[in-house]
Amino acid sequence: MMPQLQAVAPAPVTDALGRPLRDLRISVMETCNYRCPYCMPEGTVDEMALGAKQRLEFSDIAQIAQAFVANGVRKIRLTGGEPLLRRNLPELIGLLKRIDGLEDLALTTNGSLLAAQAHALRQAGLDRITVSVDALDETLFRHMSGGRGSLSQVLEGIAAAERAGFGPIKINCVVQRGLNESQILPLFEFFKNRGHVMRFIEYMDVGSCNGWRSDEVVPVSEILACLQSRYELTPMAPAAPGEVAARYAVSGGGEVGFIASVSAPFCGDCNRARLSVDGKLFTCLFASAGFDLKPYLRSAERLSTEIGALWRHRTDRYSEIRHAADARKKIEMFFIGG
Ligand code: GTP
Ligand code: 5AD
Ligand code: SF4
Ligand code: SF4
Repeated sequence: MMPQLQAVAPAPVTDALGRPLRDLRISVMETCNYRCPYCMPEGTVDEMALGAKQRLEFSDIAQIAQAFVANGVRKIRLTGGEPLLRRNLPELIGLLKRIDGLEDLALTTNGSLLAAQAHALRQAGLDRITVSVDALDETLFRHMSGGRGSLSQVLEGIAAAERAGFGPIKINCVVQRGLNESQILPLFEFFKNRGHVMRFIEYMDVGSCNGWRSDEVVPVSEILACLQSRYELTPMAPAAPGEVAARYAVSGGGEVGFIASVSAPFCGDCNRARLSVDGKLFTCLFASAGFDLKPYLRSAERLSTEIGALWRHRTDRYSEIRHAADARKKIEMFFIGG
């Protein structure tokens, strides 16, 4: 009998520390309509705006994504700044969905423009959505968005995403000392009761414009203790290698995640590459510079070879060495999308 032939996905390229390339985060917009003080504080960053001229075209993004998939990527996440500011995003989603070998296509948004777009995003083939919500109190929410956001608008966006067929939706909250610790329990209960997954993120020293201070970090141990005062939580196994969130099952139903990138760094199995809106590959969230992929756009083969070669040389593990790391100029979070 003839042996059965199976389509074999390419083995991922591994970096200098043995970490495979599995996950690609693509920034489609270099700016945001919010000014969260921990990310893009009002007044400090407008002059850095890149402008539409240097944004990659959707066809170029799709070509680059394809070359990443050829090197082992299975998950793509669209980010910004705020990705829903980019016109005709469903068109890009359609192009990415056609890539053979891609298993998961997700998006991280602030939710402000989601109500109008959720249906089209789903129709185009988007698999998952994550929405940032830092507070359930309207005034505090507005403050944490730099005076620009409306909680009710974001909740409408989440409701529209549910109706469009997304779910469970992940909800991200960055916890900052002295600002929103009071919101931990209310956020957790509100979204758990609606079948979504709350994730609490330690405030990170990403970028240079937020004036990060270590005493503003609320460690995950403290957030966990706050929830455990009311709920029984049981650690869950990671859903996939290299997952950033430590997940816990909630007795009585539901799940919650904690992203402890300051108190418990997870560089050891970091399989994430980041593509900036102007076509540069960043091999770490804390990198100072990216590698320009635009010159290789004319040849799919060359593009794929370059990406493989860059990944093989990768040694980044900033979060593990942050105390010893040089005082580098880091890429801003709103530019590279977290
Ligand atoms: P899935 O696992 O696919 O659901 O998504 P995700 O958790 O990777 O995506 P999301 O955009 O929600 O990321 C959550 C947060 O984790 C980001 O905003 C960052 O704050 C943090 N994060 C994600 N990736 C990294 C990373 O590689 N390094 C560090 N230090 N933080 C990261
Ligand atoms: N520390 C931790 N998370 C941050 N984010 C933005 N800036 C920071 C920071 N300094 C988060 C956003 C969003 C995700 C994409 O990144 O809140 O949930
Ligand atoms: Fe806030 Fe996200 Fe916009 Fe940064 S990109 S300012 S975290 S909404
Ligand atoms: Fe990956 Fe860099 Fe984050 Fe470490 S600090 S998990 S290497 S992106």
